Amino acid sequence: MNRRIVTFDDFRDAITAYRLPRVLIAALELNLFTAIGTAAWTIPALARDVKVSERGLAILCRNLAMADLLKKKGQTYRNSRLSATALNAHHPAYRGDYLRLITSHWADWGRLLESVKSGLPLDHDEPDEPDYRRRFTWAMHHRTLETAPKIAAQIDLRGARTLLDLGGGPGTYAMAFLAKNPALRATVCDRPAALDVAKEIASTHKAGARLSYLPLDLLTEAIPGTYDVIWYSNVLHIYSPQDNQAVFRRALASLSPGGRLLIQDAFLHDREGLLPEEASLFAVSMLLFTERGNTYTETETRAWLTDAGFERIRILRMKKGTEDWEDGILEARSPGTNVETRARRTGSIKSSRSRSSR
Ligand SMILES: C[S@@+](CC[C@H](N)C(=O)[O-])C[C@H]1O[C@@H](n2cnc3c(N)ncnc32)[C@H](O)[C@@H]1O
Repeated sequence: MNRRIVTFDDFRDAITAYRLPRVLIAALELNLFTAIGTAAWTIPALARDVKVSERGLAILCRNLAMADLLKKKGQTYRNSRLSATALNAHHPAYRGDYLRLITSHWADWGRLLESVKSGLPLDHDEPDEPDYRRRFTWAMHHRTLETAPKIAAQIDLRGARTLLDLGGGPGTYAMAFLAKNPALRATVCDRPAALDVAKEIASTHKAGARLSYLPLDLLTEAIPGTYDVIWYSNVLHIYSPQDNQAVFRRALASLSPGGRLLIQDAFLHDREGLLPEEASLFAVSMLLFTERGNTYTETETRAWLTDAGFERIRILRMKKGTEDWEDGILEARSPGTNVETRARRTGSIKSSRSRSSR
């Protein structure tokens, strides 16, 4: 969506868009969806249970029902399918770590002017604590656990034997690629605290036996080993153009001939670098939370890839509604005969056009 603000009414509507998010966050802060669980509640009974005023709860619940998160029937309220599962701490599909991360951003965005003035992230002097890294890594898992299998289903990795998930965090994408490609082996590379979470998650999947772990500072260290595919997802925006160019050079050095670097990120696609809206707004998060991060245009990223020595660069388009970011995957190949061509020549896979490319 691209919100255009032309009239004063557009401007007012854009500013007052904080209202529904604030209602949602208040409900999460109250653990309301967990308290409601599978029962139907009247307001007086629920107000006693969650220890708030009846008047306040009645107005909060009416608004949640207006947004379809609660189902209202006469005097009673029940959870919707979504609030009974992903928003309910007693359900296995609860995505609490990601909910905690995005709701904590409310207070951080309230301090935006501090970062605009300084050009620095909030709390920029705090080191990367293992505890924080663990929580963030679980949040990343809860963010992508539905998206990763949909992406893996659309990227043709037949013929590839090894994949490196560079800055892979929980390894959710690596696990999805492994589940889709039984002959593939993958390595997830990240900070040690993130890899602990990746190990925990992989231990619950059969395909996890084909996942290895590589603790590495991807910003400064060479990548050991050779891979047919490097998956660089949601890392580009954390770093500066120069940092990313250096990462691309190191990635190229560790790709097999014709191997692929796949970059998934919030690319800007228009000439002036303004759209889509989500990618522009995401740059604000990078201002608040990173030293040098930003969002980048597809065109400038292609130029960095070419400078680093990559060839045959193209965008991979995923089906609408399945993407992590709109038109957000760039594929670039290292020079040489690619691994799929070799596999086709030896007859181990049949030739077909990638469904994901246009
Ligand atoms: C936003 S998360 C993305 C996780 C995953 N790739 C995804 O798409 O969901 C960025 C990841 O990059 C890792 N990362 C960032 N800088 C790093 C560095 N210098 N060395 C190793 N890992 C790094 C972080 O620890 C984090 O797990």
